[in-house]
Amino acid sequence: MFADDIRARIAEHAGTYFSPALVELFLDASRAEAFWLMLEPRAIQARLSDLLAQGGAPADPTELKQLAALFARIVDAKSPFTAEHSLGVSRLARLLAERLDVPPASHDALEIAGLLHDLGKLRVPDEILDKPGRLDTRERKIINTHSYETFQILRNIRGFEAIARWAAYHHEEPDGSGYPFHLTADEMPFEAHILRVADIFQAMVQQRPYRQGLGDHEVGRFMRDLVAAGRIDATVATALLDDVPGARVAACPTLAPLSELAQA
Ligand SMILES: [Fe+2]
Repeated sequence: MFADDIRARIAEHAGTYFSPALVELFLDASRAEAFWLMLEPRAIQARLSDLLAQGGAPADPTELKQLAALFARIVDAKSPFTAEHSLGVSRLARLLAERLDVPPASHDALEIAGLLHDLGKLRVPDEILDKPGRLDTRERKIINTHSYETFQILRNIRGFEAIARWAAYHHEEPDGSGYPFHLTADEMPFEAHILRVADIFQAMVQQRPYRQGLGDHEVGRFMRDLVAAGRIDATVATALLDDVPGARVAACPTLAPLSELAQA
């Protein structure tokens, strides 16, 4: 997707997902090529390091979430297959954390990790991300680098140490067969298990150009099969299966404005 398409897409959502004033600022800033070049992970990392060196990192959780939501929209808009994926994962991860009595101090951080978990996809070429049909082995290896790239971008940000790990572990499998670190279940923080479940559920219920999202019954069975195969955490899955329609509303936030996310 080209920069002009992304700008048009974001402009369309002024007043729904995004505050019109923020959209106006975004459209103004994103007119320059430098804006888009700055989105390259190395440039983002350098910019964030500069901010931190100046002691100017945004500390307010609402501001951080809004900034993370902006990056999430950019990542999600990169592919027509993933509209709203990051936002949905973020909202569902928070809902699960609440259902699971995760300490409230982690809720905002988990939401931010959800928004940023696929940030590394900015380094994956569009022709691979958007390829219809099956990926070959080389393409699969390239796409699988994205969670490590997310880790690389986030790990040096002060205060983001946990967020970087939770976000980067979303493709780790409890039996150690996932990527990129091949962690086992007990090496994964509980929040990473939550994010993994939210990531899979959102991907299965979201409508895609080539398939319908799964219905409540089908997705429930799919998640139970993953538990039985030892591929997702059973406690997190149980919290999800407690109320699948509620989880779907969180995961598919088409009608939810960003302001609601910021206030959550
Ligand atoms: Fe991913």
